[in-house]
Amino acid sequence: MLYIEVETYEELSSKASEIIASVVKSKPESVLGLATGSSPLGTYDGLIRAYNNGEVDFSKVTTINLDEYIGLTPDNDQSYRYFMETNLFSKINVRKDLTFVPDGCAEDIENECREYDERISSLGGIDIQLLGIGLDGHIGFNEPCDVFVKETHLVDLDPSTIEANARFFSSIDDVPKQAVTMGMGGIMGAKKVLLIANGKNKAEIVKKAFFGPITPNVPASILQLHPDVTIIYSKN
Ligand code: F6R
Repeated sequence: MLYIEVETYEELSSKASEIIASVVKSKPESVLGLATGSSPLGTYDGLIRAYNNGEVDFSKVTTINLDEYIGLTPDNDQSYRYFMETNLFSKINVRKDLTFVPDGCAEDIENECREYDERISSLGGIDIQLLGIGLDGHIGFNEPCDVFVKETHLVDLDPSTIEANARFFSSIDDVPKQAVTMGMGGIMGAKKVLLIANGKNKAEIVKKAFFGPITPNVPASILQLHPDVTIIYSKN
């Protein structure tokens, strides 16, 4: 595990985007595992800049996202598909048909989850998985639990996650209570993992997850077992 602490969110974002860009430069047909939330916004801006400067070409890249809320359609501005379109996909030359986000409106969610895992396998796995971390230690929406769940699955969001994500919605009652998330198998199967966390409020969970015991009660702690994981933390 490589643990890097930097001073500012800008430094964190430029390091993270450089790491992802270098994966794409060395393998143009990379499979990028992507995340939403506030943490990756600066990283995505860095990738967009690299694309605009002609440094990175995304035309052969496939992306596969971690999660999606149940019941939000792609045109809902709080859906993770919408987030990805707005903050990254529409600003780089990735092929839309090679971008994957779980379908939180699928009629048969179990089947959607199975197909998502089959897709990850058929792509040959993920070259680099970008992660944020929740205040309760979740990665994707793998919430604290008694076991690490391997497969993509339906989750009930933890009340603390609903509260944390209420900042993006007009009221806490509008936050979906469930989501589909990639499981630990997909995440741990990635060749490289890059986790970014910023802000003083993340300091305690970062310490617990990466310097404490490995337990499904702190889901991110499983990353201590990954052979190629980089954590970048900035206080600000
Ligand atoms: C989002 C995701 C979540 C977030 C986490 C942190 O796709 O997988 O695990 O990374 O909730 O969110 P922010 O970055 O908003 O603090």
